[in-house]
Amino acid sequence: MSKTWAASDITSVFGKVAVVTGSTSGLGFAAAKELARHGAHVVLTSKTHEKGSRAVADLKKAVSNASVEFLQLDLSSFGSIRSFVQSFLAKGLSLHILINNAGVFCCPHSKTAEGFEVCKLPCTHTLSACTTLA
Ligand SMILES: NC(=O)c1ccc[n+]([C@@H]2O[C@H](COP(=O)([O-])OP(=O)(O)OC[C@H]3O[C@@H](n4cnc5c(N)ncnc54)[C@H](OP(=O)(O)O)[C@@H]3O)[C@@H](O)[C@H]2O)c1
Repeated sequence: MSKTWAASDITSVFGKVAVVTGSTSGLGFAAAKELARHGAHVVLTSKTHEKGSRAVADLKKAVSNASVEFLQLDLSSFGSIRSFVQSFLAKGLSLHILINNAGVFCCPHSKTAEGFEVCKLPCTHTLSACTTLA
């Protein structure tokens, strides 16, 4: 008989460090919350400090003993990706779990400050891969 998976099936990730990109809403916030609930130190990311701080507060409200912090990251900017990586490395943390969740979908035609097309594809996934490789 098949069993439905639930977040309660997640095993302990105590002591692990998780970065979840695009974790201010939706799937990213849900993933960050469950990783925190199961013991991980979670680094939330967002394009803006305002949304990031709000997400940290919301997560702490949902998981009272959450170990969570925010780092600014705009995956449509290589400059921002480099700053994020430097800020993360400066903390001296290991990275155990990376969830490349951030993405945009069906947005109108536009270009980033660095001249890349913000296209209908989830292009931030592509740039986020660069984060991992940087
Ligand atoms: N929901 C669906 O049905 C569905 C279906 C297929 C694929 N997906 C993919 O699954 C992922 C999550 O979907 P969702 O519905 O949960 O999305 P969502 O609620 O719209 O959240 C998207 C997240 O991506 C972040 N983001 C957007 N542009 C960014 C950028 N340039 N740099 C860094 N972060 C950026 C946003 O953070 P800030 O605005 O705070 O920066 C936000 O937290 C996305 O990649 C989406 O393409 C979703």
